Amino acid sequence: MLIKIPKGWEIPENQVTPESDYVSRRKFIQNMGLAGAGALTLMNGCAWAKGKGVEEQLKDSQAQKIDAPHNENFVVNAELTDEVVAASYNNFYEFTTTKDRVWKLVDKFQTRPWEIEVGGLVENPMTVDLSDLVKKMSLEERIYRFRCVEAWAMVVPWIGFPMKELVNLVQPKSSAKYVKMLTFLRPNEAPQQKQGRLPWPYFEGLTIEEAMNDLTLLVTGIYGHVLPKQHGAPIRLVVPWKYGFKSIKSIVSIEFTSRKPRTFWNTLAPREYDFWANVNPTVPHPRWSQAMERMIGTGERRSTDMFNGYQSYVTHLYKT
Ligand code: MTE
Repeated sequence: MLIKIPKGWEIPENQVTPESDYVSRRKFIQNMGLAGAGALTLMNGCAWAKGKGVEEQLKDSQAQKIDAPHNENFVVNAELTDEVVAASYNNFYEFTTTKDRVWKLVDKFQTRPWEIEVGGLVENPMTVDLSDLVKKMSLEERIYRFRCVEAWAMVVPWIGFPMKELVNLVQPKSSAKYVKMLTFLRPNEAPQQKQGRLPWPYFEGLTIEEAMNDLTLLVTGIYGHVLPKQHGAPIRLVVPWKYGFKSIKSIVSIEFTSRKPRTFWNTLAPREYDFWANVNPTVPHPRWSQAMERMIGTGERRSTDMFNGYQSYVTHLYKT
């Protein structure tokens, strides 16, 4: 049984969630099988640490600046999260389930060259090197709120292109209703993929309407430069009205399908993580409340906003 023992720098779990949830969560974990228990225990927690040496590790990506215009339309009334904090508090289970160690374990991960396959039910399928694809797209910088299902949040400047540009390029057939996205599978570079416990490679999905939404970004940069590996280099999704686990990292394939794709976390724990994963303060996670969130870096606690504050962009998608 894998139970996480909090280390000195970690905020105790009972500060993230009310004590009753915390206690029942512990019981729940004890009753689960090994795979699910490990994964779920580590999906929670709300600690961050400026790991020693992150500044050094970031230098390589910081040197690779991206010159992209800032889009003023996406305003967030909050401080940006410190870059070093964001780069040393990551969820990237392919490497480790310990957030403050991801950056230490990504060295071997080869993010260049990077081929991406876009296919399935489309008129113009393509397999293309990312650097060629990016030349066809209009990169821009947008500041977004980002909210993890674990009740931590950050505000970061992403650089990317609207996913709808890619959708328009490949021209989905009328039978295409969803997109299914996959992360790489390279056990020699990503140590956790050697453990057969989780259903690698990580997979996620959106409806076509969600993929075409104005907010949906395919991201290649952050803080003015290329994505550091721990944030999902060289290309990841960002859907800011959904919990962070929908924002799949290091994408190698995007497939248009007629059937709703399965998703990684929903496959592991269907009662806890649904396909939609829209940020909603009124729907608690089965084991903790989603009413409040904690900003990483400052620890500020604030109320969670419906759709993470992006109601005007997405409410119409979910009207029945
Ligand atoms: N993508 C892959 N391939 N593997 C992962 O483990 N974790 C998800 C998401 N995308 C994850 C992933 C989760 S749970 C979150 S909260 C965000 O990435 C974290 O993004 P960040 O580390 O850049 O903050």
